[in-house]
Amino acid sequence: MKKYIFFLAALMSLCACQKQKATVTSPDGNIAVQVWTNDSGEMYYSASLNGISVLDASRLGLILNRGDYAHFSIKGFQRSSQDETWEQPWGERRLIRNHYNQLTVRTDKLNIIFRVFDEGFGFRYELLSDNSADNAIEILDELTEFAFPTDAEAWSGPTNHTNFLEELWTKTPLSQKDTVATPLTVEVNDSLYMVVHEANLTDYASLDVAPLRGSTMKATLVPWQSGVLVYQTLPFVTPWRTILIAKRPGDLITSYMELNLNEPCKIDDTSWIEPQRYIGIWWGMHMKNYTWEYGPKHGATTENTKRYIDFAAQHGFGGVLVEGWNKGWDGDWTRIDDHFSYTEPYPDYDLQELCRYAAERGVRIIAHTETGGAVTNFEQQMDSAFALYERLGIRAVKTGYVNPKHNGEEWQRSQYGVQHYRKVVETAAKYHIMIDNHEPAMPTGIRRTYPNLMTGEGVRGQEWNAWSVDGGNPPYHTCVLPFTRGLAGPMDFTPVIFNFNNKVLPETHPHSTIAKQLAEFLILYSPLQMAADMIENMEGQVGLQFIESCPTTWEETIVCDSKIGEYIIEARRERNGDNWFIGGITNEQSRDFCLNLDFLDENARYMAKIFKDGKNADYESDPYDLVITKQEVTSETSLPLHLARSGGVAIQITKL
Ligand code: NOJ
Repeated sequence: MKKYIFFLAALMSLCACQKQKATVTSPDGNIAVQVWTNDSGEMYYSASLNGISVLDASRLGLILNRGDYAHFSIKGFQRSSQDETWEQPWGERRLIRNHYNQLTVRTDKLNIIFRVFDEGFGFRYELLSDNSADNAIEILDELTEFAFPTDAEAWSGPTNHTNFLEELWTKTPLSQKDTVATPLTVEVNDSLYMVVHEANLTDYASLDVAPLRGSTMKATLVPWQSGVLVYQTLPFVTPWRTILIAKRPGDLITSYMELNLNEPCKIDDTSWIEPQRYIGIWWGMHMKNYTWEYGPKHGATTENTKRYIDFAAQHGFGGVLVEGWNKGWDGDWTRIDDHFSYTEPYPDYDLQELCRYAAERGVRIIAHTETGGAVTNFEQQMDSAFALYERLGIRAVKTGYVNPKHNGEEWQRSQYGVQHYRKVVETAAKYHIMIDNHEPAMPTGIRRTYPNLMTGEGVRGQEWNAWSVDGGNPPYHTCVLPFTRGLAGPMDFTPVIFNFNNKVLPETHPHSTIAKQLAEFLILYSPLQMAADMIENMEGQVGLQFIESCPTTWEETIVCDSKIGEYIIEARRERNGDNWFIGGITNEQSRDFCLNLDFLDENARYMAKIFKDGKNADYESDPYDLVITKQEVTSETSLPLHLARSGGVAIQITKL
């Protein structure tokens, strides 16, 4: 009898213990995520790929003002799965498969939901209402950890919240990082790459991470000035914390997990959302040829804008961005008050006439709404401004926040900033306006839900090649971006400069060949993609032919070959079509490739038009040496490619 009771007790304790632990695997079975609580109720997760740990025991939990959300008693597990395919209105790929296994861990205080895909996983906290009269909560700390088993090298962008996410990305071991923004791209070894980021950042603070002990990174959220990280009302869900796991760096780029972890499109009719190439009255200001403010060198004049509209119409650009068109640029435009108007043009800019002139030529004006950080002033005018733009046929707005603090008070990437940016996108959707968000929070896949959120900055872009006293972006920079900032979402880097002369800072200019400038148009993905140079510099350039033909939305994207920070070759097929476009870029080293075109249709012949570095091309000694050749190719072709130092290649492949 005694023996029987002992056996029963042992069985019960085994059940209790097992009840506190669960595993969920990816649909292909390669990735396994385990979650459990220890004796004191602390909750952990870990992850493995083919049985080998890729994340060791990593803590979960939150610290709230209303008590302990860091110790749990697991009440049960729920499982479900999904396998569906959805269509993007625009993007690097049209059809996206959303295929995962889900595990919900129910505890006495909150639920934690894990979704495991073949290419990684995400998890989020779900806080339920506790039926108390006051559902308001404050998050004081998020305990989430990412315990990397080795002190691997990782690419990151530092953040002290004042750099607009515009620093160079650097590669250092995890343990030596300062607080860094995500994505954090970890080169675990030659056949394992991992990325920590977040998806669906809604009404929450942006995620940064910092080393806690050794190579364990911990979430540190961007705070309000009060010190509180997040103000919320129960019930709510946090953004997803995401971990991509890939064997090749290129597979990070062709993962759409981030989008799958966002909600489906909330805009019923997306037919007005038009990915497009654009030009702008922009580089001229950064090169100090024009001014934003009213005066003798004012760039946004009616006459100048008409020249840009004519050029756009002739060369197949859908939009003309005009900066400095509206009142408020005079003096210190980053002061926090109501000096900026978003409806009143300067006297030498005939807004109505220009919109009419553009429409007549099949072009649209892209409006610019720099706030200088005066966010409340912008919010107060947003409805009337967007309504005016809609009436005039303006379909896209470039927003701007050149001031690390919104209203001089809250960090751009704080919950306040995140709320503001969402308000802009939602209001814009009401007025059929697409957004290009400069000085943004890091994108987290919201474009799935609001596909009018086209692109954004948060990147050290081309403008640094105009005025940065360090000489501009180094050659490796754009070979890093697709694996770091680019994983978060489209970036308005504004590629394509043809004239590298800088009369103000002669040493500052693009450090690349022209062929690389062309290839960047394809590689640095943005559905609103700018050819940045002034039109007088673009006029007559043979390379412009590539830009004129290159779409900004795609049926599919393939990364043919890549090494983070060194080179990347990508091929993209046009939407609902048979033509392909290829871009290849390298860092300061020249390289030779043999590019297999086996992705082409087996039964077809194609003509390839190749824009490549000439014999003498070199980013330092002869950046302008560009050669165009043509040859017939098939899926059997192996194309020899030579990329000069900081060079590139851009190829247009047309089905015959
Ligand atoms: C910084 C933006 O990145 C740039 O594109 C813009 O021209 C200036 N702010 C002025 O708004």
